[in-house]
Amino acid sequence: MVPDTAFRGLNHHPESLLLYTAMTALCFKITMCWWVIGLLPVIVLFGRYFYSRRVIHGYLEHAMSRDMGDIEGFYMKSPDSCLWVAVVEGKVVGVVAAVSQQKSGGAVELQRMSVDRCCRQCGVGVALGRKVLEFAATHRYSSVVLGTTAYTPGAHRLYQRLGFRCVGVTNGYATPGARCSLLERIFYRVRHHQYIQFLDVQDS
Ligand SMILES: CC(C)(COP(=O)(O)OP(=O)(O)OC[C@H]1O[C@@H](n2cnc3c(N)ncnc32)[C@H](O)[C@@H]1OP(=O)(O)O)[C@@H](O)C(=O)NCCC(=O)NCCS
Repeated sequence: MVPDTAFRGLNHHPESLLLYTAMTALCFKITMCWWVIGLLPVIVLFGRYFYSRRVIHGYLEHAMSRDMGDIEGFYMKSPDSCLWVAVVEGKVVGVVAAVSQQKSGGAVELQRMSVDRCCRQCGVGVALGRKVLEFAATHRYSSVVLGTTAYTPGAHRLYQRLGFRCVGVTNGYATPGARCSLLERIFYRVRHHQYIQFLDVQDS
């Protein structure tokens, strides 16, 4: 996720490119020194990598201190939530979770979708996503929602393939675990895509 956010993400944020160009022009005006200007792209790329790594590590720590550190207690004790793993030859290669969102009127949220790099593009993501949709239909939820900051085409392709529709994009999303310091705001910026799928809930 780190290179994806730090480098691929740059293509999606013209406002960040504009900011870095303004920083370069300002540096040139102050220093009038070409080698400082030559060094700036390296500093920007390093800054983006460093802060993306820091935020993503913070996000993982946040997840471990919350649900992922106590899967049994968080997901498996209540009928309103569940977590599934995909197993290939005795090894866990994928995970997905579902949590009900009482506030959003009968919606269940798909969370933690991830497939081991060695098993990607083999249908594991679709199989996991379908588990969440089955869970939602069985428990008669009206919709399944999810949010993602991924820039990889694979993540968006997966959700579209499962029948989700993108209903909103938040630019400059505050990732859980981020510190939101000035440098972090300069070098870490992500878009959060919100997806939804309405389920056909009919009274029997
Ligand atoms: C996103 C992710 C879960 C997809 O899992 P997967 O097991 O590779 O997905 P599937 O094999 O079931 O493929 C689902 C669809 O997406 C497409 N797809 C998957 N990876 C792709 C890629 N890198 N580029 C283009 N399309 C891709 C597949 O072709 C398939 O579409 P199709 O049936 O029309 O051909 C996996 O890449 C991953 O774990 N990524 C890192 C974590 C992440 O981004 N999580 C999701 C955001 S929260």
